[in-house]
Amino acid sequence: MEAKKVAAEKAADFIQDGMIVGLGTGSTAYWAIQRIGARVREGLKIKAIATSQASEELARELGIQQLPFAEIETIDLTIDGADEADPAFHLIKGGGGALLREKIVAAASKKLIIVVDESKVVDKLGRFPLPVEVVPFGHEMTLRKLEQLGCKPVLRTAEGKTFVTDNGNYIADCHFGRIDDPEQLHTVINLIPGTVDNGLFIQMADHIIVGYHDGSVRELE
Ligand code: A5P
Repeated sequence: MEAKKVAAEKAADFIQDGMIVGLGTGSTAYWAIQRIGARVREGLKIKAIATSQASEELARELGIQQLPFAEIETIDLTIDGADEADPAFHLIKGGGGALLREKIVAAASKKLIIVVDESKVVDKLGRFPLPVEVVPFGHEMTLRKLEQLGCKPVLRTAEGKTFVTDNGNYIADCHFGRIDDPEQLHTVINLIPGTVDNGLFIQMADHIIVGYHDGSVRELE
């Protein structure tokens, strides 16, 4: 069975009746949402909040009841993927461009469960280019400021056009190489005017569930 799928399904089993659940984005979160949909069809009673338009649509198709953020005080549990996870539970997220909503939902959650396949677990973050969400106005200048931090920022495109996030912003994929101090980098990036947020999630994850290609699942400790 696909490594992403086993991890995602294991995480979906943590959900209990009455919970408000955050739905992540991406190809791993997809499997969690599918499993939640199946459990809802079997009678599980939950309400959900999605981290992207894509996940919102998927949840709607699967019959998962959703709430607007205005009606939510706390989210009991969020299940989301990641592009990289390190032993200190720092993450890089945003490969799918949903990092901002993912971080807002994660910050509102009592528990964040991250589901990844074994290829995403690294000793040090940074092999995966760090996504930074920037506002369109003056983005050329914002990218130059990002470059001054020692990376090579590339404005993300999709189908030949500049990629636009669900929030109407752009993404700069920043190739830093090995990131020795993710916490400090997170802070300095977000101090650049024009930056909305970046894909570093500093110790936000409570559990990291790793799926392996032999079908086994283990939690990172
Ligand atoms: C979406 O913007 C991301 O943060 C995803 O959670 C991350 O890119 C992992 O995606 P996959 O599960 O598709 O690898």
